[in-house]
Amino acid sequence: MELRFQPEFKPTENSVIVVGMFADGTVHTHGNDLSQEVIILIAKAAKAKDFKAKPKDVMDMIAPVDIAYNRIIVIGLGEKEKLTDYELQTIGGALASALLSGKETNGFALFSGLNSRHVALIATGVRLRSWSFDKYFTTEKTKPKRVFKTLIIAYDNVAELETTYADFASITDGVFLTRDVVSELPNILYPETFCDRAKELRQLGVEVEILGEDEMQELGMNSLLAVGQGSVRESKLCIMRWNGGKSGDAPLAFVGKGVTFDTGGISIKPADRMHDMKYDMAGAGVVLGLMKALASRKANVNVVGVAGLAENMPSGNAQRPGDVWVSMSGQTIECQNTDAEGRMVLADALWYTQDRFKPQFMIDLATLTGAIVVALGQEHAGLFSNNDELADRLFKIGQTSGEKVWRMPLGEAYDKAINSTVADMKNVGDSGTGGSITAAQFLQRFVNDHPWAHLDIAGMAWANKARDLCAAGASGFGVRLLDQLVSTYYEGK
Ligand code: BES
Ligand code: MN
Ligand code: ZN
Repeated sequence: MELRFQPEFKPTENSVIVVGMFADGTVHTHGNDLSQEVIILIAKAAKAKDFKAKPKDVMDMIAPVDIAYNRIIVIGLGEKEKLTDYELQTIGGALASALLSGKETNGFALFSGLNSRHVALIATGVRLRSWSFDKYFTTEKTKPKRVFKTLIIAYDNVAELETTYADFASITDGVFLTRDVVSELPNILYPETFCDRAKELRQLGVEVEILGEDEMQELGMNSLLAVGQGSVRESKLCIMRWNGGKSGDAPLAFVGKGVTFDTGGISIKPADRMHDMKYDMAGAGVVLGLMKALASRKANVNVVGVAGLAENMPSGNAQRPGDVWVSMSGQTIECQNTDAEGRMVLADALWYTQDRFKPQFMIDLATLTGAIVVALGQEHAGLFSNNDELADRLFKIGQTSGEKVWRMPLGEAYDKAINSTVADMKNVGDSGTGGSITAAQFLQRFVNDHPWAHLDIAGMAWANKARDLCAAGASGFGVRLLDQLVSTYYEGK
């Protein structure tokens, strides 16, 4: 959907108009643009339908016959003083879903009672909710029907609105990149082609460096390499740097699990929903999208993004359950289950990141365990951390951004569960007990006491049903959360 801002309200034939309404019944008339007749009609309908204009409420009406436009959507805005940033975006989300379900191709919106920041947030919600991935439909017949094309928001001070909107648009561009790569097919997106997408960020001033298997071998990253050794696709480590802060300032580091397809390896998964495992690179996808968001809005901070990329396949060359590997840290890992591969990728990616960059903190993102979906569903990502301040900040931003996280425990008793009888550790705990926690304990052995947080996004990366700000499919969960964490606490604003 295309979004435009202009001062004039000029609805055309067969369009839809969108009118904001506060809980007290005030509608946004944009001067005298809305006729008295229509204002009365809306008031009558609201009364008849008991429409309370709570945030996200939608009242869908047919326009009077003597008017050019077809349809009137009244969108609830609640109480002006109470509107949060997230609520404003979800209002946009609800609006987008109403527009996309209609038969009109264009619309004109009136939000004259709101300031430019509020309108920018609504517009951002519209954009986030209307994204879709349909490049592989070849006929109109198979393609999902979405006739709505252009929404024009009538607003007096367009210049001011566009300035406020620009930063949100950058963040949304990052979210869309994440959604694009997470949705992309596993025969198209694999470690090397993921790196090609990363290289495109050079245009924005991001430094991109790629390590192949030879370089990783040299560094001793045998744990990561073991995961990809059964695949014909070469494993990669993709390092992205945005230096928007003071030179010499320690960077913030984000590390993502990028398993571009997870068959389970020799410990193969059931066929049932194996195709879902194309999104097992979502952690890396979030790091990529976040780098794009930060670079696009020229964030005032130094950041490193690292994506550990491998394809987990069974083959004559695949790792076996029982193999032991010396990781880059020097610690040895017994692989008891080749399907617990994400932690093996992250072990070397995390060690490398802290060793080379000495970051202020490391946050990793991974679709790491099915157990976190059992625990938290599709509402919260699991948060694990060795640092209360960082964990509290993530929790708080989760609440305000709408990308919620819930802290889970770590501790010695859990750590014991991954001790091995032949090596320093094994890659699984006791089956059926605290699987997300033992996975996090495994990661913690590779963070070397740096402030660290791990986000298990297995339940959040893919939306089984549409959410407030995304259609069903890749959600981009994590980009807005981490962008807001950075802007709130680390850009010295
Ligand atoms: N990628 C999966 C986890 C996953 C499951 C992500 C469902 C998204 C949705 C991960 O690599 C995995 O297979 N984990 C195993 C670990 C087990 C073998 C200890 C799991 O969760 O079953
Ligand atoms: Mn797996
Ligand atoms: Zn996996």
